[in-house]
Amino acid sequence: MIPDKRLGRITMAALIIGLSACDSNTTPSPAIQTYAANTIPASPALAAIYQRSCQACHARGTSDAPLTGHGAAWQQRLDKGMDTLVNNVVAGIGGMPPYGLCMDCNTEEFRQLIRFMAIPADAGE
Ligand code: HEC
Repeated sequence: MIPDKRLGRITMAALIIGLSACDSNTTPSPAIQTYAANTIPASPALAAIYQRSCQACHARGTSDAPLTGHGAAWQQRLDKGMDTLVNNVVAGIGGMPPYGLCMDCNTEEFRQLIRFMAIPADAGE
């Protein structure tokens, strides 16, 4: 038996976690998480870069990285402008290391990777 007091605390903690997730409005749905875990760019060359550099963070719901296919999260980023996003990848931002770990990527490749990740998971539905 869990004493009532403790149960209350657990409920509060769950509530706070739930609320903060709502606040940022960026909690990806299970469908988006499945999409992110399984989707790679159509171009084999781009897919190779994505798989060796970006996928480790952007395809997992456990990281702070905006999830591939999470349209709402990406729209907030895209609002900064593509040039800013590319610069932030090159310089690194928050939990993302410089170049998103792709040291030999050029600007055009970064743009294509960003466009790919920003395609909403339900775009084809
Ligand atoms: C080690 C993990 C990691 C890897 C690898 C990684 N990212 Fe990220 N990325 C993140 C995290 C975490 C954020 C959120 C950073 C923040 O806003 O605090 C992020 C954010 C971004 C953003 C948004 C930047 C902004 O200004 O809002 C872009 C664009 C991006 N990543 C592109 C890429 C690309 C392209 C690759 C592969 C070449 C890549 N990332 C690889 C972790 C990673």
